[in-house]
Amino acid sequence: MAQTGNFKSPARMSSLGEGAAPASAGAVTGGKPREEGLNGVDFERRGFLHKIVGGVGAVVAVSALYPVVRYIIPPEKKVKVVNELTVGKASEVPAGSGKIYQFNADKVIVVNHGGTLTAVSAVCTHLGCLVHWEEAANELACPCHGAKYKQTGEIISGPQPKALKQYKAKIDGDSIVVSIA
Ligand code: FES
Repeated sequence: MAQTGNFKSPARMSSLGEGAAPASAGAVTGGKPREEGLNGVDFERRGFLHKIVGGVGAVVAVSALYPVVRYIIPPEKKVKVVNELTVGKASEVPAGSGKIYQFNADKVIVVNHGGTLTAVSAVCTHLGCLVHWEEAANELACPCHGAKYKQTGEIISGPQPKALKQYKAKIDGDSIVVSIA
């Protein structure tokens, strides 16, 4: 049968004797003062565990950040430098047109003006935009700030400080070959 009633009633307390007291009304029997309780703690082990947790956290952080950093700063592409390169088909640059090709680390524009084939860097010496060939004006034009160059790369007008770098271009069979000038 379930027991009911006030367990701390004076009648019950007196039946338990003078020394009996509610458990919540004083020091816990057998308990240690706080200072004594810390004596048994192994601080070296705790420090070691903190280091392990810190190390694991660092490894996780590095492995999470590494791909992000590699994405933001991609590795430098190693460009094989050659003196001469077949860049495309002759049919790709008909008379009156120009086409940009990759040559070593540079972008080169091959222009066919009335059968005269030339190749110069397509990178504007002002701020690096790519120039294009304008057949009607007989010039290379930069769309960014209006620089104008001759087919051979010399400056006509504009803010650019230098002429375009010159290369050589020739037709070999049905291919266009660009080489260092
Ligand atoms: S980048 Fe060509 S004119 Fe400025």
